[in-house]
Amino acid sequence: MLNGIDHVGIAVEDLDGAVELYRRTLGVEPAHRGVVESQGVEEVLFEVGDSRIQLVGALGPDTPVGRFLAKRGPGLHHLGLRVDDVAVTLQTLRAAGVPLVDESPRSGSRGTTIAFVHPAGMGGVLVELVQGAP
Ligand code: CO
Repeated sequence: MLNGIDHVGIAVEDLDGAVELYRRTLGVEPAHRGVVESQGVEEVLFEVGDSRIQLVGALGPDTPVGRFLAKRGPGLHHLGLRVDDVAVTLQTLRAAGVPLVDESPRSGSRGTTIAFVHPAGMGGVLVELVQGAP
C-alpha cells in the first residue's frame, strides 16, 4: 500500500523568499514551479533523493493554505505518501472510519492522482495520498 514519502508540504507566506532560503541554506535549486488552481496554491518542488520538498504558497486568503497560514502561520503543512492506488487506499481508510477530505481521487500536479485525508483521523497530520509520481 505505502511505497514511500513522495513529498513533505510546507506552507509559506513568501514563496520567493522561501526559495531563496532553501537555496542559500541547503544549496538546492527548484526542480519545478507552477500554479495549481484546483488547490489554490503556487508550488515549488525541490528534489531530495527519491522524495521532494514542496513549498506551497496560497493564491489568496480564502484557500485551504491561505486559511492555514492565517491560523497557524508558515510551517509544516502536509505529508505526501506514495501509494499504488489512491482509490483503493481511500476505500481502506473509509472502511477504517478515517475521515477524508477527498472522497474520491483527483488530479494533482505533475500528472499525479491524489487525495487528502483529514488530519482528525491521522493524529493531527494532514496526509496527501499520491499515485503515479514521475
Ligand atoms: Co502536496
